[in-house]
Amino acid sequence: MNYSFPRYLLSKQSVDDRALNKDVFHALKSHLPQKPLRIIEVGAGIGTMVKRLVSWDVICNAEYILVDEMSENVEYASVWIPQWAQETGLSVERSVGNQIRIFNATRDIRIQLERADVFDFIKKNKTPAHLLIAHAFLDLLPMPESLTKLLTLTNNLAWLTLNFDGMTTFEPTMDAALDETIERLYHETMDTRPSGGSSKSGRSLFAHAQNAGTEILAVGASDWVVHGANRTYPQDEAYFLHFILHFIEESLQGNKGLDEVVFAGWLHKRHEQIERGELTYIAHQLDFLVKKKNV
Ligand SMILES: C[S@@+](CC[C@H](N)C(=O)[O-])C[C@H]1O[C@@H](n2cnc3c(N)ncnc32)[C@H](O)[C@@H]1O
Repeated sequence: MNYSFPRYLLSKQSVDDRALNKDVFHALKSHLPQKPLRIIEVGAGIGTMVKRLVSWDVICNAEYILVDEMSENVEYASVWIPQWAQETGLSVERSVGNQIRIFNATRDIRIQLERADVFDFIKKNKTPAHLLIAHAFLDLLPMPESLTKLLTLTNNLAWLTLNFDGMTTFEPTMDAALDETIERLYHETMDTRPSGGSSKSGRSLFAHAQNAGTEILAVGASDWVVHGANRTYPQDEAYFLHFILHFIEESLQGNKGLDEVVFAGWLHKRHEQIERGELTYIAHQLDFLVKKKNV
């Protein structure tokens, strides 16, 4: 199988659509100011969140800045965003410096694609946003210092979604002890990445958000739950599952706690379960909506 990160992010859309906590989402909608918005999304990937917020009628008039460090993602976004916008009947204007305007009679979204390390972007950003979005991103960063820096990008709200929180489950159980070992070692890799991150980032945000001077407006679970029906999965979710296993394989390659052959056999059987539509995958995550206290 050819593993492509942009395709993984595309395949993740329907999983994320289900997972996003709808109470937190409704709180976001009710707290958004009724004026042209400035939104900064960090670790934005290929821009699936801006598509979601347009399709779910959350944003009508906004300047939307997407920041991601991977050129592959930003290049993909620069082609994919105009494509879906046109497919949904929106007009598209492109201008220099990776700016894309998507609009019609009732909508006007000015998108800026920024290929940058987010901490470099923070240093050069002059105007804070009304809303900061970090979706499936904070669990990759060293905390709490990253949150404090990221919050300088907003003068009001931050919607911090899909923060992994300590539980991965594959069903059906194949070998309870081996399943448990793989889950534990996989979580350990999240806790020991040189670039930072934590397998319990969700729960730690309660303290980090408060210590960083924000009020927590809403919190809720946003678990990924992926399961088959009639031997198949919706949308491109089989690819999503294969990619998750690929990611676990990469994370645990050469891990001293695992026998290489046993691990390869486990992965092989799990991939086969996906082909038969039998694998169920659950990852526990939390969403937060927070507000800067000085607002
Ligand atoms: C798990 S992906 C999530 C992408 C997107 N939010 C989504 O859910 O579709 C994390 C993203 O963060 C980006 N990233 C990681 N570290 C970063 C950094 N220091 N600055 C900017 N982007 C970063 C990666 O390139 C990747 O696209």
